[in-house]
This record gives sequence, structure tokens and C-alpha cells, in this order.
Amino acid sequence: MKQCMSDRHIDIFHEWKQSPFGSHVLRGTIQNNPFSLWCVTYDCLNDQEIIRLLARWRKTHERWFPSIFPVTEERTRSWLKERVLDVGDRILFLIRVDDRYIGHVGLFRYDPNQRSIDLDNIVRGEEGRKGIMQASLETLMEWVKHVLSIRVFTLQTTSDNSKALMLYYRLGFSETRRVPVVFHQADDGGVWGETDDGPNISRYHVYMKKEVA
Ligand SMILES: CC(C)(COP(=O)(O)OP(=O)(O)OC[C@H]1O[C@@H](n2cnc3c(N)ncnc32)[C@H](O)[C@@H]1OP(=O)(O)O)[C@@H](O)C(=O)NCCC(=O)NCCS
Repeated sequence: MKQCMSDRHIDIFHEWKQSPFGSHVLRGTIQNNPFSLWCVTYDCLNDQEIIRLLARWRKTHERWFPSIFPVTEERTRSWLKERVLDVGDRILFLIRVDDRYIGHVGLFRYDPNQRSIDLDNIVRGEEGRKGIMQASLETLMEWVKHVLSIRVFTLQTTSDNSKALMLYYRLGFSETRRVPVVFHQADDGGVWGETDDGPNISRYHVYMKKEVA
């Protein structure tokens, strides 16, 4: 099969992340009210307010992430640099409404052969503006669909995350498979790992996809 080895469209993620914070913003509306998605950039590593927000939201929602550990601002800064900004096909956007940030949405794991990408780091950090998460994802998907000619969106969530499942069904995603997971306890937290089916399974990773024209 012919491999699409020279797809450099993804470089736009790198360019945006290296730009000054605020220079790349996606815009949308919900019930006639504007909102914007601000690309998280290297500048944000020096913005204590943003690091604090990301850390607080991560801590609040830790049960929905695959790994659990003591969340600190320092650790959050390292994660943002090494696991998001330095990763070529990963990008994160802060959702901004009425001059405040209320959550984030992101993209990861671009596959130029399949023309697919994962929705990543979908977190509502603050209450209010019902429907803003769905509207933000619609705006993000519309943008990346055009810049990377995406045909398939993929994502992974957990079977007990009913809020997330409802959101993804509303967006038109459907389940492709589910895999049992077990929690591996560590001294200061632990990790959910996939396993073979068996007794006492109470949680599954749910993989979903949405094909777009
Ligand atoms: C998953 C998550 C992002 C979903 O957020 P959300 O607030 O439910 O999503 P939305 O902002 O789209 O709001 C949805 C609600 O608004 C309603 N809604 C949607 N559009 C609306 C509109 N135009 N007007 C009024 N209400 C609307 C929906 O019916 C839904 O209502 P419900 O909560 O009563 O079911 C959030 O629960 C979260 O951050 N969870 C923790 C982190 C997490 O699990 N992330 C996903 C990992 S895979």
C-alpha cells in the first residue's frame, strides 16, 4: 500500500503552538453568543494562571483519566510542555467565553494514511453555558477537517462516563469496540490498563468514531 509519508499539513500544529498566545483563535457561537478556542502555546508555560487552571481541572476530573497521581502545578507544566506542546500531532485549545476560560478541547494521533485524528483532552472545567462543549468540539472538528482533510474522527472514553458518552453520541459518534480495564494501584495513585475479559470487570475503555464527508 502506498504510504503517505510526506504529509506536512500537520506542521500547522507546530506553527500555531510556537506563535504568541492569542494569535491563533477559532471562533464559534452558541445561541447567538460568541465563544472562542485559544490555541495553547509555549507562552502558556510561563502563565501561572493558565497552569493553575489546567492543574485544578485535571485534579477535579482525575477519575476520568487513565492515570491518577498527585497533581501539582509543576507536574502540569511539565505535562503541557513534554506531552502536549513538544508532540507534533497534539494540540490543545482553551475554551473562552466572556473573557474567562471554562475548559479545553484538543486533538491527537493524526494518521495521514487513514486521514483520522483523535479528539483529546475534552474537559469542562467550569459550570455554565450548557452545550458549550458540544459547540466547541463542532468548531474544532470543522477546522481540522479542512486543514488536514480529516475523514474519520476517533476517541476513547470509559463505559461509566455517561456525560462523555452522551456528548459523543450527540456529536454523531458511534461505538466501535470496548475493552475491559483494571486498575493497577501504585503508591501515589495508579493506572487503568486494558486486560482480557474476565470476572469482576466493572469498567471498559469505549472506542468511538465518526466518519465525515
Ligand atoms: C464530558 C464533558 C466534557 C461533557 O460536558 P457537558 O457539560 O455535558 O457538555 P455540553 O457543554 O455540551 O452540555 C451538555 C448539556 O447541555 C445540553 N445542551 C446542549 N446544547 C444545548 C443548548 N443549545 N441549549 C441548552 N442546553 C443544551 C445537553 O442536552 C446537555 O444537557 P444535560 O447535561 O442535561 O444532559 C464533561 O462532563 C467533563 O468535562 N467531564 C469530565 C472530563 C471528562 O470526562 N472528559 C471526557 C473524557 S473522554
